[in-house]
Amino acid sequence: MDISVRSIKKDYIKWDWQAGKNVPFSDEMTIFTLTSEKAVYALAAIESGHLCHVFFGRRTDDEDLSYLLRLGENPYTPKVNEREMATFMDNTPFEYPVFGTGDYRESALMIRDKNGCTSLDLRYAGYEITDGKPILEQKLEDCTVRLPATYAEDTQAKTLAITLKEQHTGLEVVLYYTVFEGLDAFTRSAVITNKGDADVDILRAMSAAIDFDSREYDFITLNGSWARERVIERSRLHKGKQAVDSIKGESSHQSNPFAAIVSHNADESTGEAYGFNLVYSGNFTACAEVTQFDRTRFVMGINPLDFSWTLNPGSSFTVPEAVMVYSSEGIGTMSRTFHDLYRRHLIRGIYKDTRRPILINNWEATYFNFDEEKLYSIAKQAKELGIEMLVMDDGWFGKRNSDNCSLGDWYVNEDKLKGGLAKLVDRVNALGMKFGIWFEPEMISPDSDLFRAHPDWAIQSPGLPLTRSRDQCVLDYSRKEVRDCIWSQIKAIVDNANIEYIKWDMNRQLTEVCSSALPASRQRELWHRYVLGVYDLQWRLTSEYPHILLENCSGGGARFDPGMLFYSPQIWTSDDTDAVERLKIQHGTSMCYPASAMGAHVSDCPNHVLGRSTDFNMRGDVAMVGTFGYELDVTRISQADRDEIPAQIERFKKYNPIVRTGDQYRLGNIFEDNTWDAWMFVAKDRSEAVFTFVQVLNRPNYRSRRIRLAGLDPDRKYRSSQTGEIHPGSTLMNCGIDVMLSGDFKSATIHFTAV
Ligand code: DGJ
Repeated sequence: MDISVRSIKKDYIKWDWQAGKNVPFSDEMTIFTLTSEKAVYALAAIESGHLCHVFFGRRTDDEDLSYLLRLGENPYTPKVNEREMATFMDNTPFEYPVFGTGDYRESALMIRDKNGCTSLDLRYAGYEITDGKPILEQKLEDCTVRLPATYAEDTQAKTLAITLKEQHTGLEVVLYYTVFEGLDAFTRSAVITNKGDADVDILRAMSAAIDFDSREYDFITLNGSWARERVIERSRLHKGKQAVDSIKGESSHQSNPFAAIVSHNADESTGEAYGFNLVYSGNFTACAEVTQFDRTRFVMGINPLDFSWTLNPGSSFTVPEAVMVYSSEGIGTMSRTFHDLYRRHLIRGIYKDTRRPILINNWEATYFNFDEEKLYSIAKQAKELGIEMLVMDDGWFGKRNSDNCSLGDWYVNEDKLKGGLAKLVDRVNALGMKFGIWFEPEMISPDSDLFRAHPDWAIQSPGLPLTRSRDQCVLDYSRKEVRDCIWSQIKAIVDNANIEYIKWDMNRQLTEVCSSALPASRQRELWHRYVLGVYDLQWRLTSEYPHILLENCSGGGARFDPGMLFYSPQIWTSDDTDAVERLKIQHGTSMCYPASAMGAHVSDCPNHVLGRSTDFNMRGDVAMVGTFGYELDVTRISQADRDEIPAQIERFKKYNPIVRTGDQYRLGNIFEDNTWDAWMFVAKDRSEAVFTFVQVLNRPNYRSRRIRLAGLDPDRKYRSSQTGEIHPGSTLMNCGIDVMLSGDFKSATIHFTAV
């Protein structure tokens, strides 16, 4: 990794309109080049002070890429022809394009100044290069919130900070770029400071903007719905704008803050792929715009819809971090780079590099209908089978026996848990099992003591009825006293019993977004202030209780985003635990998120969402591409299924180190052929690999299916645990292996070890 800075003077010939002849001119620019092993990201401050985007893509050893700016070809370069400045603004590639001064494409920054005007003119003012990576923070009136972001030691990354200044408002924008050792990944963020003497309203502040020189790309996004999150959508870029976004207050089931721009020929192992991911958990947008000149501008950041933020003189606004990954070796390499980046530089805590306890969660086993003895009986049986932790899900607090009350009343329902929580936890611990618990800290039920005491703590718009969803409302997390109240309740529970895992759920999206504590002029800040409030509480939780394993969740997988991964090393992937649907959900999720982060459980059949029955073995093989656990009443499943659990657990323990730390190769594409799927995980030193094949539907009279392996060392020989045969990696990858299973919903896992 490296960041270089060079001053370059370029000579050009220009047609001079006034003189009516060609004249020479030159432009002196400072060019910044960030290089990783195989990628390069270059930008330049040209003589006029505009900061231009030069190139992002495959690494080249040529350090002077300034010709790519086409300044010589562009008759409107400011130095040569100020009278056509607007044309210059609308066709030059900019690093942080501003609104209002002639660039009509998607902008990165738009403000409203003291006069009500929205035009900006940002110019280069200097740079700094540091080792490592600074943290991102947002100062609020009563606290400072650390934003989730990738982190790195001084030897693991380098950061370039470029300062831009705006004359008439006094705004200063510092753009941060980080390049990481050993990864073709870059991050961007920005801090906007009001150094003027009047308030400025930020109306739009993107995290990244990239100008591509072509429109010949496909756009990949992850879209979906409850129980079918992160379905891959891929389409050709076309004139105009294509976007994925959320305005629901969270990343959402429907969309994910991920987008990729890939060459038309890109597949798992070939073609170019640019992946973008926003380290944020609220409203976002990722938009690709094909311009009049058949080029593409991509922007990503907080959704500007219904957003504004007032910057008083002296105050700053920090935009969330955007991650940018480049691969010239297909989409698979792009995904593996994201996985490595997140495992090394985003996920934190004691579980970052360790296997997670095998848990059993009682949600699909009992829903709200449980008591202490029921939970204990599940734990006792689970322990005998090798399961390591009991997680008590929704329904243990207040007077909650269904989803219509008690959110906000985080005290134990002793009608259900007789003798209190500590007694149950102690009994479970005495079995040799850990204990975990569910909370939904951001919510308030209208039927709760908390609501009766503080009705104004629910997010609401004066004059409008409270829109309920799952019979609940959302707490105003922009208010510190609200967060403090919930925090003290969580602490009381956690301090009272030996809690070693928390599932943090969030089961509705935001409506009537208004706060009774904010002035009218700041109401549109609430969407973002809410997310900052969530981050504040998750930071407190992970800092004060570092031994607790946190799993984020949102009605299934509506908050599977890098922001959440900063706090919890795992996230519940979907409420859909059907092993067939999970193939799609986990394939889509793996576009940028590692298997080590995907909450995945074996549940009972017929599946509660789909009514489908699949083989117990297949359910296990699919859940092993994740954190692995069970979500069923282990005292009531069939003896045959129960008998399979110990061996399944042994398999999980054996293969999890490779799945958790190795390289993932998607061999099948369930979105294109939903009759089968296959994948493999290869250890980093390529000494072993785990291959899994899933036969969703059998085919009559076809015999075996041949599948080419990937990621092995071509020069080493590997033994198959299935046949005992030994073949070179090159043979296994070029010729493939034959797999044959009988029946539908079956799977097989094969271990390859280098000999
Ligand atoms: C939604 C989650 O996704 C489920 O796993 C479960 O925790 C329920 N909420 C409980 O209400």
